[in-house]
Amino acid sequence: MERLRVGLIGWGTVGSALGGLIAGGPLPVELVRIAVREPARERASGLPEGVDIGPVEAITRADDLDAVVELVGGMDGPRAWAQAVLGRGLPFVTANKALLATHGAELAVLAGGTPGAALLASASVGGGAPMLEVVEHLAATGAITRLRGLLNATTTFILSSMAQGSSYDEALSAAQRAGYAEADPSFDVEGRDAAQKLAILASVAWGRFRPEREVETHGIVGISLEPGRIVRLVAEADGEDLRVKPMELLPGVAFASATGVESVLEIEVRDAGSFRIRGPGAGGRATAGAVYADLARLVAGERPILFSPRGR
Ligand code: NDP
Ligand code: HSE
Repeated sequence: MERLRVGLIGWGTVGSALGGLIAGGPLPVELVRIAVREPARERASGLPEGVDIGPVEAITRADDLDAVVELVGGMDGPRAWAQAVLGRGLPFVTANKALLATHGAELAVLAGGTPGAALLASASVGGGAPMLEVVEHLAATGAITRLRGLLNATTTFILSSMAQGSSYDEALSAAQRAGYAEADPSFDVEGRDAAQKLAILASVAWGRFRPEREVETHGIVGISLEPGRIVRLVAEADGEDLRVKPMELLPGVAFASATGVESVLEIEVRDAGSFRIRGPGAGGRATAGAVYADLARLVAGERPILFSPRGR
């Protein structure tokens, strides 16, 4: 393949940052088509020239694309788009954890049965921090015993800002302005975003699809913090039980020092010790980097399928 021709659905925080990476990055990737909800709307990062801007169907039905990237979020639309793209034997790249933690198994089966199709979602967990890749790698020996982490950047941002004196509402507004929060921030503060990410990681770690509904989930809505106390929204799984809940941490323990947009994942592996991945868990440029890394795999000729044994 000379260059990978990509159709991109969504030109928001992550989509527009991906556009910048594609334009300036080293890979032979060409952005051929873009779909947004309101093409005529004035936007800070203007839509690029020389790219076909149209409805989503112009992407899902196009015959001039090698891959489709979905950076919208939500469930019903993205599910139908993924089905259309995978059913045509094209790779589908997404950052949409809500979609994957509900319909991931069905999409993986569709991709597995359609030559040429692939399902990639590095950006769905950890934003720019390569958590899914490392879990996939370590899962190969079947020896992961525990996952534990701070998987939602918005709540870490809110809780660490509150410890510095911000109110809950001020901190949530700041996370929204920075583009860290979900379009509906109740997914962040009610713990659902972290639960979706934990479900995806657990599915890969133990080779059995675990939907979001299997995660016992508690959020941080209405939380108050006494001065000096450190609380974080902790996600943990041991292969059977999956749980997300706010926990008080002692100063000095690893997760307590994660502030702002940082996310952390600790992976325990039998007879091998523990591994920790830490980095920016949200934000346009960091997250777009993870999507771009998925495109690099496609350029290299790989056709991985998330949730399939050994990714295939
Ligand atoms: P934004 O809200 O910033 O952007 C969403 C984009 O989708 C907009 O361009 C919007 O169009 C477009 N869109 C919405 N509905 C439709 C539709 N029906 N048809 C076509 N386009 C549509 O979202 P983000 O960039 O923040 O997030 C995108 C995805 O990435 C989500 O799944 C999110 O969970 C995930 N993600 C986000 C991270 C972040 O830090 N923001 C980190 C990791 C993952 P318009 O511009 O016209 O409004
Ligand atoms: N809203 C998400 C978060 C974005 O705060 O972690 C990254 O997935």
